[in-house]
This record gives sequence, C-alpha cells and structure tokens, in this order.
Amino acid sequence: MKFKDVFILFVILVLFFGAACTSGKELVLQSPDGNKEVRIILNEKGQLFYQLKGYQQQIILASQLGLTGNINFGKALSLENVERKQFSEVWKPVWGPNNSIGNRYNELSLTIQNQKKYLLKLHVRLFNDGLGFRYEIPRQSGLDSIIIRKELTEFNIAQNGTAWSIPANFDSYEMLYRTTGISEVADANTPVTFKTDKGIYLSIHEANLTDYAGMTLKNIGGTNFEVNLVPWPDGVKVRLKDSLLSPWRTITISKNAAGLVESNLIQNLNDPCVLDAADWIEPMKYIGIWWGMHLGIETWTMGPKHGATTENMKRYIDFAADHHINAVLAEGWNTGWENWGKPKAFDQTTAYADFDIPEIVRYAKAKGVELIGHHETGGDYLYYEERMEKAFQQLHEQGIRVVKTGYAGPIPNGQHHHGQKMVQHYRKVVKMAAKYHLMVDAHEPIKATGISRTYPNMMTREGARGMEWNGWSAGNPPEHHVILPFTRCLGGPIDYTPGTFDILYKNRGKYRKWNSNDKGNSRVNTTLAKQLALWVCLYSPLQMASDMISNYKDQPAFQFFKDLPADFEASKVLAAEIGDYFAVARRKGDNWYIGAITDENAREITLDLSFLKEKTKYKASIYADDENTRLKDNPTAIKIMQRVVDCHTKLSVKMKKSGGQAIEIEEIKE
Ligand code: NOJ
Ligand code: CA
Repeated sequence: MKFKDVFILFVILVLFFGAACTSGKELVLQSPDGNKEVRIILNEKGQLFYQLKGYQQQIILASQLGLTGNINFGKALSLENVERKQFSEVWKPVWGPNNSIGNRYNELSLTIQNQKKYLLKLHVRLFNDGLGFRYEIPRQSGLDSIIIRKELTEFNIAQNGTAWSIPANFDSYEMLYRTTGISEVADANTPVTFKTDKGIYLSIHEANLTDYAGMTLKNIGGTNFEVNLVPWPDGVKVRLKDSLLSPWRTITISKNAAGLVESNLIQNLNDPCVLDAADWIEPMKYIGIWWGMHLGIETWTMGPKHGATTENMKRYIDFAADHHINAVLAEGWNTGWENWGKPKAFDQTTAYADFDIPEIVRYAKAKGVELIGHHETGGDYLYYEERMEKAFQQLHEQGIRVVKTGYAGPIPNGQHHHGQKMVQHYRKVVKMAAKYHLMVDAHEPIKATGISRTYPNMMTREGARGMEWNGWSAGNPPEHHVILPFTRCLGGPIDYTPGTFDILYKNRGKYRKWNSNDKGNSRVNTTLAKQLALWVCLYSPLQMASDMISNYKDQPAFQFFKDLPADFEASKVLAAEIGDYFAVARRKGDNWYIGAITDENAREITLDLSFLKEKTKYKASIYADDENTRLKDNPTAIKIMQRVVDCHTKLSVKMKKSGGQAIEIEEIKE
C-alpha cells in the first residue's frame, strides 16, 4: 500500500504585504469556486472578527476571534502583515472510504500584533465545502510560557434552524443526540450539525487537535456560540512553553445533508503522513470475545464464566478462519479487571492464568488469523504510561498488529478525558504504537479530528454511544444511527461495532446484571437488515461483527459480512436526511456495497444506480426487511434475494421501522 501523499499540483504565493496596517480593516477571501466568502474584520477597538457568506447568503454573522491568557490577543490588535496563497493537490490516504482526495483552498494568513508587541498569526483557509481557521503564536523573544485562559472564537450562526447535538461534556461523547432548535442548544460537543431555516447544512468541528484542549461550544445568546475549552484542574485551558498552534476551527457547509458526509475538509486540514512506511497498516474485519461480557453472560474477570479463556479464544479463531475474518479481539485477557474502578487496576503486560498467550499466538498463526490486543486503563493514563511501551513491545513480539485501548473511568488528579493533558496522552499512544507497528482502535478516546491522515495507524475510535449501550440500557433509539453519519462520523471512522443478530436476546439465558444503567429492558432497537446496513453506513477500517459467534451460526445473513471488504476505494451518498434516513454506496474493485437505514419510521426510498458502469450487468444480493419484520417483536425476519441490475436501475428500497437494507452488487463477468 502506498503511504505517501501524492502531492502538489501547485502552490502559488499570490500576494505579500510587508507594511503595517492600522485598525479598522477588512480583508476578503473567496473559495476557489467563488461560492463562499469569508471576511476578516479588525474593528476600531482592535478586535478581530470574521463573517462567512455562502450560496448568496450570510452563514456566520460577525463573530469574534482571539485568545487571552498571560498574553492578550483580544483587543488593541493591529495588522502587521498579510499573505495569500492558493493551493491544490490530490492525495492518497493509506486507507479510507475513498482512495483519492482532492484538497483545494484559498488561504489568507494574517500577522497581528498586540499592544505589548507580541505576535499572533491567524491562518484562514476557504474551501468549496467550508472554512478552517487556526491561531498560531510563533516563537518570539520575551515569551517563554503561554497560558490560555479563554479562546474568544465565536460561531454566530446567521439564522435559527435545527440542531443535532450532544451536550458539552469534558469526559464523554457517549450521549444521545438531541434534535432541537439551534437557539435551544445550551452547549455542545463537536462535531455539532445544523440545518438553517434557509436550508443550509453546516457542521462545526475542529481539525488536527494536537497539544491543545478539546473544544466544546457554549450558547451566548440566540444562535451565537462561543468556544469553551476543556480545562486543566486549575482552570487553565492550554499551557505551552514558547509557541502555540491551535487546531483548525472548522465549518463544513453544504446545500444538502449528503454534502456534509462527502466533504473531506477535516482530513484536508491535517498534515500528510509522517510515518516512514505504512505497509504494515491494513484495514481488517474482526470478531471478538466481547458481547458476552456486555450481556452479562460472560465476565472480564477470571472465574467460572470467564470469556477470555484459551479454549474460547480457539473457538473464535476457528470461526474467523472458517469465515475469512481477519482478526479476533479478546477483552478480559489480562489481570486487573477485579479492580476496575480503583487506581492502578490494570496490568496490560500480564495475562490471566487461563489465557495461554504463546499457545493462542501459535494457534492463530497456524490458522492465518490475526489477534487484537486489548488495553483497558480504567482512565488511569498515568499508570498506563508506565507500562505502555513494554506492553506494546510484547504485542509486537507476539506478531500482533492491532490494539484496542479503553479509558472507562475517571482520569486521575482532576484531569478530563478531553483536556490538553489527555490530548497529549492519546497522541503519545498513537506515536508509540507506530514505533511498534501497531494500529490503534481507541475507546473513550479524544474525538476524531482527522489525525489519521498524519498517523494512519490511528485507525478507528469510539467516541459515541456505541453498540455496548444496547447490552445494558434501554438501547440506542432508531434515530441514533441516522444522526451519527452527519455528526460524530464527520470527524472520522467510528468503531460502533454493529452486528447483533440475536436482537431480542433470545439466546441470552441467565445473565448477571453488572451495569447500573441496566433496568432489565435492554435490547437492540433495529431490525436485522439494519444491523447489516450499519457495517456499510458507519465506516471503520477495523469493522467488527460484534455478536457472540454462536449467534452467527447457520445465519444466511452473515454472508453479507463475509463478503464485505475491509476497506473501499470510493464512496457515494445516495440518499440522506439527518435524523431520517441514510444510504451510501461503497466500491471495492468492480463491486459495490450499499447500506440503507431509516429511523423509527418505515419508509421506501428509491436508489439511482447510475454510478454503475455503463453496458455492464451486475448481480445484486439484497438483504431486506420482509413483510413480517417488526421492530417490536420480530426484528430478525429478513429476506435475501438476488436480481440483475445495471446503471439504469432505480432500486426501490423498502425499510420497516428502524429497518434497513444491505446490498452487495457484483459485476457479472462475461
Ligand atoms: C468500554 C468500551 O467501549 C467497550 O468496548 C469495552 O468492552 C469496555 N469499555 C471494557 O473495556
Ligand atoms: Ca465506551
């Protein structure tokens, strides 16, 4: 696989002003297609603002910019210098829903001086599909410590409309989305997505979150939001030695919901791959000893119901080998689970006595199956940092290429999961993992901000209310899955772990309640066909079939997962409305894979297959809700059919309540 960005069409330095400017200035930047315009304004008080127009209307009204702390870049600023450039490239990611990404923007970089003669740079990039801007405090004499107490950035949305948001939270993204008026959003984590009353879709997020605090938004009146950074225990937001480069603040803009999903703005605002080689990085499909614990049938701890035993692992390895699944995960393989919740609980270097690693490694190798290591930390990143390198070294020596991490518990010393300290930690893990040729699947992670472009071993992450919640709570509601593609997933791949086949837990038998959210009414609130479709809709380069393998036995519908590639070459959104429905087609070689899903409403949508090659016939294998499928009491009824399709086909897709459809389209070779 290629790892280097295929690079540089042209970079032109268009203009350079050396002269100092006084305040009361306006600078205008247009997108390459001329459709959007950002205006940077320095008012008479020397305060900095921006405004954004697109599709012949105001999108963001005058919104403040700046940083304050031990240096004040909030007022009395003057403009020192302006640089402009145009940039265009096509780059090739190591993996992803598309194998080629266009990156074209116009850029404005301002150098600004405050009253005390300290310099701040503001970099602004306007793309056809949105805006990115970031702050830089360059190294300069007299500056040997930077403390940010407040980022002044605002997003003053021009009209009210609908918002899909989760509340701002410094430690978790595992919440249900609220659909409200924009002005009703008191605070939010990002990505947060809006549809204005004038029909413009926008999503606010950040790109390349590196050595800075995570961003949340706070409503400061009407439809105006200001940045509220996740604090250190003493209230400081960001502390750095002598220079600062903030993440990009991003606004993705589209005239339709599909455009948000198809945008590559977030990755484009990240740096190219820095790894020397990436040939060891490979997307995979996996199964694992996992769901049994969430259902309370098995335990992470050693004992009579222990899930991660040598014997059980061999069953999973056999299943993976028989069904051409790349890898197997085991949770609860190492000592410490009995101390979950206490400090220094987990030892990621020592296996339980009934998990014979050398034997499992030998067995998996003989069967051509990969193993996925698991490092739960309980949130104790400090203790993990002590053991991490040794633990990674061990995995590497065992020939293991993937590690799933977890931070299920509070962060020590009053730090937050999403604060600067943990942003540093999560990056440390990714870099150390790269050293030992490990791909990372992070749970309870820092949000996805596109850093996989730079570190393509950062494969996938949770950072959303995933499948696990269905095991021990009333479950994720039907609309959750048709909001995720337009919110959380805009940041990057998600390890949602779809694939429950025993939807009503008929095979659960006796279980032990282990989670306080469990009110005895747990279930998966979808049909089986929707579970299959989620494997396509919720893109992940490590994609899990998450049910216990016993529930896949003799299930014809499992064929869809067997046939599904672990990665794709091109993706196309076929139908999309936030919170209602989503259909996407992904291509690998000559074949296409479609996932279509709906919310709590049954619906029929028509998919236009004009993206198929002309004069070519294809065999479509369709996995659909059938006449008898009922979310409430018969969600597993599924109809599997085949038909011939071509580029003229208009495919009618009927979905029951919280239903879906999964389709494999294979070229018929003459
Ligand atoms: C939470 C993770 O999201 C889940 O996948 C994992 O099984 C548990 N923590 C235990 O590590
Ligand atoms: Ca989780």
